[in-house]
Amino acid sequence: MGKFPVTRMRRNRRDDWNRRLVAENGLAPADFIWPVFVHDSDESHSDIPSLPGIQRHSIGALVEDAGTAKELGIPLIAVFPVTDPALKDAEGSEAVNPDNLVCRAVRAVKDAHPDLGVMCDVALDPFTDHGHDGLLRDGYVVNDETLDVLAQQAVVQAAAGCDVIAPSDMMDGRVGAIRTALDDAGHDAVRILAYSAKYASALYGPFRDAVGSAPNLAGGDKKTYQMDPANSDEALREVALDISEGADMVMVKPGLFYLDIVRRVKDEFGMPTFAYQVSGEYAMMKGAALNGWLDWDRVIVESLMAFKRAGADGVLTYAALEVAKRLKTG
Ligand code: PBG
Repeated sequence: MGKFPVTRMRRNRRDDWNRRLVAENGLAPADFIWPVFVHDSDESHSDIPSLPGIQRHSIGALVEDAGTAKELGIPLIAVFPVTDPALKDAEGSEAVNPDNLVCRAVRAVKDAHPDLGVMCDVALDPFTDHGHDGLLRDGYVVNDETLDVLAQQAVVQAAAGCDVIAPSDMMDGRVGAIRTALDDAGHDAVRILAYSAKYASALYGPFRDAVGSAPNLAGGDKKTYQMDPANSDEALREVALDISEGADMVMVKPGLFYLDIVRRVKDEFGMPTFAYQVSGEYAMMKGAALNGWLDWDRVIVESLMAFKRAGADGVLTYAALEVAKRLKTG
């Protein structure tokens, strides 16, 4: 080597205390948003075959597990309803029923745990018989007519006690429409976490199984409103628009395949920025682990750390409860 002593990068990796000391990123329960499925059933938990280890919850079971999440220090849960097919129609009218399943679930959780944040999606897909996030007219998901319904859906959820409204529909102008409707209804404290850069991904399959929106998805995909995975600059435009319309926080979805977008969004806007480790990401890792090909405990933590390294302030992950428990017990 040359005339200086060799720089030994390995010195700082030598001992556990030293590795912990120089770690640039960390994971804590406060980094997680826990997405959880609720069904209208006496069965407290029901398995989801394409999401091994993840279950649909009855309202009672949700209240109980939400309490565990809160105790563990998870700040926010996202409640997704599994709507009875008999209640679905072309207009998604159950979405604006103040007594629908998600509203009842939110009321029950907030009653029991007022200090736990509760978030709800705004989109029509759990409620439409064609499985799209908006209203279908001549086979096309129409934008402006859908906005009126989404705004009503947001108000109904806010009235039920939802703290964070998360539009996941990708209609143009939804954040502004929802912000205005919330304010007009007196819900100016309700926050908006916008699914700003949401891609038309093949990774949502297990979620659609879980909520039962897959079997009838008219046309088979959502490419006329969700983003093209080829695009990156477009994500910045989407985020910029959502911020200008009043978003308090923004999200990139899916997660691991789109960490470049997370980094660009965080660097460009400095907004509270979240990523969704979606159902297909969970299923890929879990499936491999169940086959004995990956070590689940390590791979899930490594994947979550990747989000933090990419600049995310937090992650929506189905593994939130499990990993938070592990972080607590060490
Ligand atoms: C609804 C919605 C979807 C997801 C979250 N909200 C599905 C979709 O857009 O088809 C997917 C989440 C996941 O796959 O974990 N608009």
